[in-house]
Amino acid sequence: MFYDPRDPKGHGLPHDPFKSLIAPRPIGWISTLSDDGKVNLAPYSFFNAVCYPPYIVMFSSSELVDDPRKHSRRNAEDTGEFVCNLVSAELTDAMHMTAAHVDRDVDELAMAGLTTEPSVTVKPPRVRESPAHLECRYMQTVILESDTPGSTHGVVFGEVTGIHISDTVMTDGLVDITKLRPVARLGYRDYTIVEDGFSKPSYDSMVPGLVKESS
Ligand SMILES: Cc1cc2nc3c(=O)[nH]c(=O)nc-3n(C[C@H](O)[C@H](O)[C@H](O)COP(=O)(O)O)c2cc1C
Repeated sequence: MFYDPRDPKGHGLPHDPFKSLIAPRPIGWISTLSDDGKVNLAPYSFFNAVCYPPYIVMFSSSELVDDPRKHSRRNAEDTGEFVCNLVSAELTDAMHMTAAHVDRDVDELAMAGLTTEPSVTVKPPRVRESPAHLECRYMQTVILESDTPGSTHGVVFGEVTGIHISDTVMTDGLVDITKLRPVARLGYRDYTIVEDGFSKPSYDSMVPGLVKESS
């Protein structure tokens, strides 16, 4: 099939297939503090690493018409800090629950039965139950115009200033994906768990003659 995504009904399918094609998407479980010190936690799957060094990550916040800036974006912009907590398989339900559109003064972390741990380089706390955390200094928001009148998409960039990795997900000095078991977003309401991986030799070594044999 072919369709023009600018026509909202162009695909002719019961549900929009776009997000199921860009999958799996990692989840940034963003913890922030409001300017009056309230903790906020929400998942973002338009989330990724962008480059290194410096180590830069992003999450994209699609704004609600009745609330122009979601709490995570607003807090990151107001305080200049956020933390990306990684979501392992056993945290799926808690993570899913923290996406609920609750008031700004509701602590989603407590609501989901989670506990906190202080960060080292930023003020927003980390989710203690997460196996890894990226502490971030807010850099900038790139505003992309939305097709929905009065709405925008705000792509928030941050530099990673501190990384925590639990010993429980390491084997012989490597992050072990079979222990980390990160949850990732598929399309529709679906998730997947990354539970295995495979290795390849260097890509240059696959082109005959590109890598010279050492004498
Ligand atoms: C797995 C998952 C991924 C999500 N990814 C995004 C996203 O990338 N961008 C977005 O605007 N909302 C996303 N949402 C919805 C937000 O989490 C939801 O709007 C939440 O209430 C925002 O909370 P906040 O206002 O505290 O930041 C996602 C929800 C789930 C469950």
